[in-house]
Amino acid sequence: MIIKSVKLTNFRNHTSYSLNCKNQTTIIFGENGCGKTSVLEAIYILTRGKSFRATDSEILKRGKEYYRAEIEFENGIKTTVTYDGKNKNYIVQDKKTKRLPKKQKYPVILFLPSDLNLISHSPGSRRKYFDQIFSQFNEKYNEALLKYEKALKQRNELLKNKDLTSSQLFSWNILLAKYGTILFGYRKEYIEEINKYFTEIYQSIMNNKDRIDIEYTTEILNNSENDYYSKLENNYQKDLILGHTSFGVHRDDYLFKLNQELANGSASRGETRSIILALKFIEANLVYQKTHIKPLVLLDDVFSELDEQRRKHLVNNFKENQIIITSVENI
Ligand SMILES: Nc1ncnc2c1ncn2[C@@H]1O[C@H](COP(=O)(O)OP(=O)(O)OP(=O)(O)O)[C@@H](O)[C@H]1O
Ligand SMILES: [Mg+2]
Repeated sequence: MIIKSVKLTNFRNHTSYSLNCKNQTTIIFGENGCGKTSVLEAIYILTRGKSFRATDSEILKRGKEYYRAEIEFENGIKTTVTYDGKNKNYIVQDKKTKRLPKKQKYPVILFLPSDLNLISHSPGSRRKYFDQIFSQFNEKYNEALLKYEKALKQRNELLKNKDLTSSQLFSWNILLAKYGTILFGYRKEYIEEINKYFTEIYQSIMNNKDRIDIEYTTEILNNSENDYYSKLENNYQKDLILGHTSFGVHRDDYLFKLNQELANGSASRGETRSIILALKFIEANLVYQKTHIKPLVLLDDVFSELDEQRRKHLVNNFKENQIIITSVENI
């Protein structure tokens, strides 16, 4: 167990709410709209530093002046967040900060019902999903991503000026090549790692012999910064016409394959759910391998459409982690 208790004041529909986690698995059960996802949201804010779905003014209970959320960890340390409509503060052991201090962050594996759209949604949403996972256990990935995105924005901004000369792009090309190559290397490595376990875990959930893989698709051919740089430089004319950067890791994608065929369009709802759940198990293992910390697992509404056997399997697979599950059914 990692988290001992959660206390909320004026947080969404909760005026005053508290949860005590007595066991490794906690189930928050209640009807639609009673505030289950909001409890996970509060835990996420206090462990990751921001909500997975909204801004603070949307979270503040309507008509109230402030919200407060607090979690107490097993070691007795408390993390509190307050928001008064203007300012947000985290408080850890009497120290106030605007952002959740890195030291107070805790890895979280989060399942949201919207994750079931991962396979069919846009490449951008898949990139965001995997960026968030890789950043969680690799600070270098996170830094490279932030720097890459900043440089890309600047380069694209310059490309709107039709009088631009290619030399004005020089420093941005250097930065994009440097950070793009780093991101490419990690993405390739981590997807290979995920694929090592994917089929086995998927088969154990589905109890069948289907094969599942993620294909990392990218225009980057190798780990050479020079090649990346040349490609950007050679694309100068094309990019100027387009008004944006046409080459780079911001165009990567992750394709889910079921028995070597694209899962998008062919996987059933049950298969899709099992693919995503298998991915969550692997994420939890990856985080543990890389950080030696067993992540907290937050599962929102994961039980619907799962039969008894699969529900048991799900909880068993995470038996080493603390799990907090929401459900509309009493189980
Ligand atoms: N700022 C707010 N102030 C007051 N109520 C709010 C605020 N934001 C959301 N709500 C309401 O809080 C309730 C709880 O939302 P939440 O998403 O946590 O419910 P839930 O129990 O997860 O529901 P479901 O089972 O449908 O997923 C909803 O009725 C929502 O309309
Ligand atoms: Mg909900």
